[in-house]
Amino acid sequence: MIERRPVGIFDSGVGGLTVLKEIEKILPSEDLIYFGDNLRAPYGSRDSKEVAEFCLRIGKFLEEIGSKLLVIACNTATIAALKELQEKLSIPVIGVINPGAREALKVTKNNKVGVLSTPLTAKLNAYRDEIKKMNESVEVHQVGCKPIVQMIESGWEDTPENRAIIKYYVDKLPKDTDVVVFGCTHFPIIKEYFMKELKGKVIVDPAKETALEVKKILKELDLLNKGEKNGKVSFYTSGSISKFKKLAEKILGRPIETIKQALN
Ligand code: DGL
Repeated sequence: MIERRPVGIFDSGVGGLTVLKEIEKILPSEDLIYFGDNLRAPYGSRDSKEVAEFCLRIGKFLEEIGSKLLVIACNTATIAALKELQEKLSIPVIGVINPGAREALKVTKNNKVGVLSTPLTAKLNAYRDEIKKMNESVEVHQVGCKPIVQMIESGWEDTPENRAIIKYYVDKLPKDTDVVVFGCTHFPIIKEYFMKELKGKVIVDPAKETALEVKKILKELDLLNKGEKNGKVSFYTSGSISKFKKLAEKILGRPIETIKQALN
């Protein structure tokens, strides 16, 4: 019998679509359900307890509607709620921080890693702790970038002011970090603007490693959808459907037919 249950994926908003894209590439036969908590985004300026409450509600929702595995496609939600969701849900739950940390360690040559993230991810030392668990001698410099998620959620505009904001945060990284992790799944959406400022540094986007981890776990648990057809993707948002549609279509580069509203 073919295993048809979907993989559930969520983020505070549209950032997790950067992870969904990689999962689609690596696991084209899987059905996917994406939930964007756009009503409550950004998470990164809230406190950890509040974010964990939102995440538990979303996790239960995605489990109830039949997900076989849950991907927290948000760094802030991963640090605030991964453990709790793993304890309280009956499906496997993975986040993006461990895959991102592993990739950063693989590519750094001078053991100096920079991380650009939301303020909460930086404040909770999410990447520093994860990287140091694997290699104590690596220096990790975390920069919390307050306004950027909101700028992307409201439709990024290429203006000198917005470019200056990116530069302001990138400049906070020590010059000798050779690797910089996008510690927020929204940031790859405007990768080109970061790249202009990050000249010559290697950028790590945890999305691909996360997608490979999803594949590994589904395989181990014999939960892969071995069907021949391409999987279908369903979308939910807690915010405005029309706003989600506009942003998501731009990020995914294709039209989206069905988006439902939930948990609003
Ligand atoms: N994409 C989320 C992350 O990776 C952004 C969180 C937020 O809404 O601030 O952290």
